Amino acid sequence: MKILLFFALMLSSYAFAQSGHDHQNKTQSSGDHHSEMHDGDHHGGGMHGGHHKLDKATLKHFFEPLPDSIIDETKNAALIKLGKKLYLDPILSVNDKISCNSCHRLDNFGVDSQATSPGHEGKRGGRNSPTTFNAALHIAQFWDGRAKDVEEQALGPILNPIEMGMKADTDVIDKLKKVDEYKAMFAEAFKGEKDPIMYTNVGKAIGAFERTLLTPSRFDDYLKGDEKALNDAEKRGLQKFVNMGCANCHNGVAIGGNSYKKIGLVEPYETKDMGRFAVTGLETDKKVFKVPSLRNIAKTAPYFHDGSVATLDEAIREMAEHQLGREVGPGFVDDVKAFLGSLTGKLKE
Ligand code: HEC
Ligand code: HEC
Repeated sequence: MKILLFFALMLSSYAFAQSGHDHQNKTQSSGDHHSEMHDGDHHGGGMHGGHHKLDKATLKHFFEPLPDSIIDETKNAALIKLGKKLYLDPILSVNDKISCNSCHRLDNFGVDSQATSPGHEGKRGGRNSPTTFNAALHIAQFWDGRAKDVEEQALGPILNPIEMGMKADTDVIDKLKKVDEYKAMFAEAFKGEKDPIMYTNVGKAIGAFERTLLTPSRFDDYLKGDEKALNDAEKRGLQKFVNMGCANCHNGVAIGGNSYKKIGLVEPYETKDMGRFAVTGLETDKKVFKVPSLRNIAKTAPYFHDGSVATLDEAIREMAEHQLGREVGPGFVDDVKAFLGSLTGKLKE
């Protein structure tokens, strides 16, 4: 048992060291809470009273509440309005049938709840559609981080042959220029530009709209000091999430989305997808993916880059096994799932 604990400690510190550079200069204070690391599970449901509380410094070290906003919504009102219209409009697809919203539904936490998504011909790509909610906060876009921000990302799916299938950006512009409402809206959003209906402006508008898709949750209230915002099971889950080492990768304002890590860091994970290797060509980037944000995670099944994991219970178990080399029981899974449920937010009006 001692040896096992020692091992767990090593692995967790290893994972932590790996993620260290993502927290900038916050890493110095990390020693203290790691010294009391245990598997977080043998207390199971039997943990009572005030034991499941993390001190404020630990919480602050790992997490940050959502900002109220990351774009001036008053100043950019025309741009955001245009972006929302484009996001919902199948005009951006070759057969006028598929919009961004087909795969990233605004009424469904920014996802389509499918393992992989059918495009304009019903064909599917190899990856799961991640949510657009809070995505603007990530270090980069896509599972492999190949687009630098939401503005750049938005231009990809329109020309993707499997997704929206437009042949060329000039075709997109020709279609938009035939619609009077778009002429007026682009002119308003890009005041002073001679030729406002340009392909890059489509990305700028959609990106601006996506920057408004923040979903504040009860966990944010808790981080801001409202102790009652989480119930006991959720607090226990939060403590286990941190003590087990999940927060070494899933941390920051989006509880993820701020670093790249290998899937199968400890126990190899079977997948043909080489992730970031395709972007960087580095051997060490094989099977490396952007660590997903866990905001709204209870609502965005199925999970993982290939959508191969159907339930949150299984995702938690697989993470513990493959990323941390730990087998976890129902006490751990239930509590961590409860905590993750507190990350479900709502879109601001
Ligand atoms: C046919 C389904 C489909 C359509 C249509 C689609 N997407 Fe996606 N989207 C995906 C898939 C699949 C991925 C992940 C692909 C990858 O990582 O290689 C993705 C990734 C993204 C991401 C990255 C999120 C993250 O966490 O990295 C954003 C943002 C996004 N899409 C926005 C859009 C916008 C905006 C549009 C419309 C212009 C759009 N998508 C159209 C399926 C779709
Ligand atoms: C070493 C870094 C690392 C650690 C530690 C880690 N994760 Fe992950 N997590 C990832 C990466 C990378 C992915 C994406 C894997 C993929 O799709 O191939 C992921 C995916 C997930 C997903 C699915 C997200 C989605 O949108 O599909 C959940 C849920 C999750 N992790 C929860 C946890 C929990 C709970 C723990 C602790 C038991 C944990 N993770 C520990 C890096 C990590």
